[in-house]
Amino acid sequence: MEKLELLYEGKAKKLYRTDNPDILWVEYLNQATALNGVKKDAIQGKGQLNNQITSRIFDELNKNNIPNHFQEILSETEQLIKKVDIIPLEVVVRNVAAGSFSKRLAIPEGTPLNFPILEFYFKEDALDDPMINDDHVLVLDIATQEEIDQIKTIAFAVNKALLNLFKNIGIQLIDFKIEVGRTEDGILLADEISPDTCRLWDIDSGEHLDKDIYRRDLGDLVPVYQEVLDRLEKISQ
Ligand code: TMP
Repeated sequence: MEKLELLYEGKAKKLYRTDNPDILWVEYLNQATALNGVKKDAIQGKGQLNNQITSRIFDELNKNNIPNHFQEILSETEQLIKKVDIIPLEVVVRNVAAGSFSKRLAIPEGTPLNFPILEFYFKEDALDDPMINDDHVLVLDIATQEEIDQIKTIAFAVNKALLNLFKNIGIQLIDFKIEVGRTEDGILLADEISPDTCRLWDIDSGEHLDKDIYRRDLGDLVPVYQEVLDRLEKISQ
């Protein structure tokens, strides 16, 4: 596979074209951002940690037959993915109250939810990614009802698989965000799943093993992400 020109540079990744029109080459960057890009820092080692963690998680989702874009890991910081047409939604699933849910509804962080809930956010930087409901998704022509149903099925299947995976390595999955894309073969799970996009709490100590370390200035993110990778590596050996 040949790496061709740069197609897109995001906050944490660069996407390149390849000689196969259906496949893109992703490079994970050593960059952390929060607050819609207002807080931004270069963090040595972050790119390779997220690339490796995401790859292991997608391997696990493949075992659970969840349709996704992941093809193969190429190097410490690079992977191949299927090209999809990204749907401009951030799909959040929550098992435990935290973050914006706790703030908006004044429910203390750590309060278990009676069942997993799903929220849609419209990916639009200029609007600060507002939360929207199914009717908004339809009326804004973001996705069809059939696609909404497929997206929800994928999101809850990811939740089930990840709850189990993380529990096996002593981690409680609080919440996470996924993105999805269209292909000729239907909706695929896309983007990354990493401590940047999940809230992960150590089951014994309750410590944050995720990007809240950076968002909330709680310390150095690299050893924490390394801990997540080490635990994932141990169970996949
Ligand atoms: P929130 O509590 O800030 O709404 O975040 C819910 C989950 O979604 C949390 O695991 C972090 C993740 N997330 C992202 O990955 N990207 C984002 O832009 C936002 C707002 C949240």
